[in-house]
Amino acid sequence: MIANTTSCELKVETKPCDFTIFGVLGDLSQRNLLPSLYQLEKAGLLHPETRIIGVARHALDQETFLVEVRNRLKTFVGESLDSQIMEHLLARMRYVLINLDVAEEYKCLLGVVNPQERVFVSYFSVAPSLFGPICTGLAHAGLVTPNTRVVLEKPIGRNLSSSIEINDLVAQVFHEKQVYRIDHYLGKETVMNLLALRFANSIFTTNWDHNTIDHVQITVAEEVGIGSRWGYFDQAGQMRDMVQNHLMQILTLVAMEPPINLQEDNLRNEKLKVLKALRPITSKNIDKRVVRGQYGPGFIKGKPVPGYLEEKGGNINSTTETFVAIRVDIDNWRWAGVPFYLRTGKAMACKRSEVVINYKPLPHNIFADTYRSLPANKLIIRLQPDEGVEIEMLNKVPGISDCLRLQRTMLDLSFSEAFSKERIAGAYERLILEVMQGNQALFIHRDEVESSWHWIDSIQEAWAKANEPPKPYPAGSWGPVASVALLARDEREWEE
Ligand code: BG6
Repeated sequence: MIANTTSCELKVETKPCDFTIFGVLGDLSQRNLLPSLYQLEKAGLLHPETRIIGVARHALDQETFLVEVRNRLKTFVGESLDSQIMEHLLARMRYVLINLDVAEEYKCLLGVVNPQERVFVSYFSVAPSLFGPICTGLAHAGLVTPNTRVVLEKPIGRNLSSSIEINDLVAQVFHEKQVYRIDHYLGKETVMNLLALRFANSIFTTNWDHNTIDHVQITVAEEVGIGSRWGYFDQAGQMRDMVQNHLMQILTLVAMEPPINLQEDNLRNEKLKVLKALRPITSKNIDKRVVRGQYGPGFIKGKPVPGYLEEKGGNINSTTETFVAIRVDIDNWRWAGVPFYLRTGKAMACKRSEVVINYKPLPHNIFADTYRSLPANKLIIRLQPDEGVEIEMLNKVPGISDCLRLQRTMLDLSFSEAFSKERIAGAYERLILEVMQGNQALFIHRDEVESSWHWIDSIQEAWAKANEPPKPYPAGSWGPVASVALLARDEREWEE
């Protein structure tokens, strides 16, 4: 496979930035933010004058902080560390102790950051209940200028009303243009590639609607169970943890109309239109549209694993879902009559995220003498792992026998083979860089978050009303049997 890159100049322009992580000692920061900053340093993408400020409420001196960061990078970077890069990175870092609830304490940042003259990014890697106090604290200390940007991690609320509350608190201090809501799926190379696939290839700009497509499947399966994250997860469930954000974002990228260009508002407006066109799911139709599951004990790759209720810290009576499958209908011109089937779960057979576009069968079969029916084409977009694109099609088997033999074959573009020299950057690396550059296109607009919650709330309400326990499925499987039935009802089946 030969990959020819079309020539284009990539402009990466970073300005000196004061990149501040609130909650620098927390899990997200350790696992994702600090390692991403290391990679950006390694790639030479941080401006030489960029400074990194870690904020937390622990009494640490600067030296102990740097030792902590060094240790965490060793654990989480996932490759052997280059000592020179490490020293450069650590030289940028400064620790500031702030009790995040106390507005007066934010004055400690004066003299450490300089939002009058430099880009000042505040990354809120903390619980959403602290978003309001941080905004107030920054304003109180006079640190809010047109150069100030804030990055909000999910979850933004647990329903529409709580997300409005959070967004309102942030909006009291920051203009929407200064707010960067993260969905790390939008930083993934392959999720972004959906845009390239759809809008840079004429074969897909035309074959992408109800005329040619029968239905679409979106699967985001995780092999890991909940493990030690029970406390957080049990309050959220798979619908809030994965569907409201990641699956909705993939869905919008697959279904949206072509934006006029990639500028932030144009892209985000097209995604928003899809969210607004989602057919509501309510108590009236939920039985036929949604499956809610919870994993029990099982085996993953031959090893026994506990069920959700037996995980550490678990509550035996929990009815929180760890699996969701939904039939989504999009009521617009392009997608009339084309269902989108979404499924996502924890402790499933393997980690696999993909979008499968199932084309319509042919209108007439000229091979009917030998084949009563012909399977329809499929386009499989593998998001992770083993990123790539496959097209399933029929070919003639070579040979001169008089019967024309057809065989299903795959046109397979594996990104790791086609772009073997390129390291695939982690989602957070890309997103951190985008914030530093002031590009909001890969971040979620408030209207998107709220539209998505509006649609999800109606399902949550129908669940609450029905008050039924989730359907069990063994860990290591593809979810409850009812998920198979969801498609079987429409005479379809999941891609396995
Ligand atoms: C997070 C969810 O947003 O995404 C986690 O909170 C989930 O529960 C994770 O495991 C999955 O991300 P990825 O990048 O591993 O697919």
